[in-house]
Amino acid sequence: MEVLEAIRRRRSVRSYLETPVPDDLLYQLLEAARLAPSAANIQPWHFIIVKDKEKRAKIANCCSYGRFLVESPIVIVGCGDEKASPRWYAIDTSIALENLIIAATGLGLGTCWIGSFDEGKLASLLQLPRNLRVIALVSVGYSRERKDLGARLLHAIRPRKRLDEIVSLETYGKAMQWNLSTTLSPKEGSIN
Ligand SMILES: Cc1cc2nc3c(=O)[nH]c(=O)nc-3n(C[C@H](O)[C@H](O)[C@H](O)COP(=O)(O)O)c2cc1C
Repeated sequence: MEVLEAIRRRRSVRSYLETPVPDDLLYQLLEAARLAPSAANIQPWHFIIVKDKEKRAKIANCCSYGRFLVESPIVIVGCGDEKASPRWYAIDTSIALENLIIAATGLGLGTCWIGSFDEGKLASLLQLPRNLRVIALVSVGYSRERKDLGARLLHAIRPRKRLDEIVSLETYGKAMQWNLSTTLSPKEGSIN
């Protein structure tokens, strides 16, 4: 799948099949994360792969909106090294996780970024060293949502701001003048 196609198709998946994710795919996801850019190339990240169901249940208990972490066969805990890169650790780790998420879509896997969690509880559960901060959790697995009407509706209506709301030309608030080729359809120009 092409990168833009994967970006278009990606959406948060909150219901998963029990089907395990082959290590070949998991490896590619982590490769995608590993190759991400980072400030001064410090690569201040570490990824903890959690497959154990009991541990996933404990992790789910640390999250306000992450009950589905029990369902997804894999949870990736994205950690940033605050000591190695005090200014950029969160941004760098987020970029790496987004690489991973887009790669997952391209490989037919569903993911969800989880940002609401009790960091102290997670740190003790995962025995994190003090320099590692939890940036986000990502659930990974095969989506079950195709069968779930509620999730399908949610996806159908997930709104995005229009480009003219979020883009300026030269100075803030000045409308962008597009010179688009005819091959770029309006749908491609503005996703939802
Ligand atoms: C920083 C951040 C934190 C998020 N935290 C959660 C979360 O705790 N639980 C959850 O179910 N979704 C979470 N999401 C997913 C968003 O709700 C989702 O990306 C957004 O509604 C857009 O929907 P889409 O991903 O399907 O396009 C988070 C996303 C981001 C980027």
